Amino acid sequence: MKILDLRSDTVTQPTPQMREAIANAVVGDDVYGDDPTINELEHQAAQRLGKEAALFVSSGTMGNLLGVQSQTQRGDEVILGARSHIITHEVGHLAQICQCMGRTIDNADDRIYPEDIRKALRPDDIHEPPTTLVCLENALSNGTVVPLALMQQDYAEAKAAGLNVHLDGARLFNAAVALGVDVKALADCADSVTFCLSKGLCAPVGSMLCGSRDMIARARRNRKRIGGGLRQAGFLAAAGLIAMNEMSLRLDEDHANAKALAQKLEALEGVEVAQDQLDINMIFFRLTNLADSSRFVKALKEQGILINDADHGIYRLVTHWGIEAADLPRIAAAIERCRKEM
Ligand SMILES: Cc1ncc(COP(=O)(O)O)c(C=O)c1O
Repeated sequence: MKILDLRSDTVTQPTPQMREAIANAVVGDDVYGDDPTINELEHQAAQRLGKEAALFVSSGTMGNLLGVQSQTQRGDEVILGARSHIITHEVGHLAQICQCMGRTIDNADDRIYPEDIRKALRPDDIHEPPTTLVCLENALSNGTVVPLALMQQDYAEAKAAGLNVHLDGARLFNAAVALGVDVKALADCADSVTFCLSKGLCAPVGSMLCGSRDMIARARRNRKRIGGGLRQAGFLAAAGLIAMNEMSLRLDEDHANAKALAQKLEALEGVEVAQDQLDINMIFFRLTNLADSSRFVKALKEQGILINDADHGIYRLVTHWGIEAADLPRIAAAIERCRKEM
């Protein structure tokens, strides 16, 4: 039985081409700057995003941490979304490691608007912390994308106030595909950008932090301090090159599968799909009259379909490489059957 793992796109396996590239990668000690494959990935990532430089890091969390830390001072205030990944799922590095205060914007759509930035700005007063950074996210963790025009307005607002902007683009390529724009256009709306080579792009490990040459030099030093200096990690960068250059070209397939699966689920009795959160490879839905959610999840698992338990009554499914259009009827049928049995 083919296991269909819809818990996240972080479960993707490296492709056969990646495995071959990993086996054949030319590597060196990256702390000496000697790993040609990492150097190539950093060079290409910077070019792809239209930035001066890039740094290969172990995760999206590390990219965000270094992006914030390398553009702030201890005691600074950072403006970011109340449900942004940085504030909710990165173990408080903003406070503990970057030693910054978070000023959260709590909009129902999780977007940040120029007026939010304007209102959050503090007067130049000795009682108040200096605000130095805005963190944007695109795609958002709620499965929607932020329009390019809004990103541009936010960036203009932040720069007019003398702030830098960091973009958590863990799924930057998904956002660009959904918006029909080049990733460069989104990267132009930030001073630093993190994007993940793992997740939907299928690399086994790794994210890129891109920005100015100076900022990346600071981030490289900060990465070393937290034990993130890499040695022969060109094996991972070899997979990263394929992720960035080739797997990014097929994400529309995951988005189409998410929409098609959502349509199948919506047609079922007792399933309510959040139709306004279907921009990328995620589907959010509720089940009405379900007595036992954990039994429902367990019953699906017995049928080879893996999903996470509901978060506040909301289930999330994520499509990715390995979940094909031909698998969708089986997923919908299993959800229908298991829901009825509970
Ligand atoms: C929006 C967003 N930012 C950052 C991250 C962190 O990435 P990682 O799990 O590689 O640390 C994630 C992970 O899912 C994410 O969804």
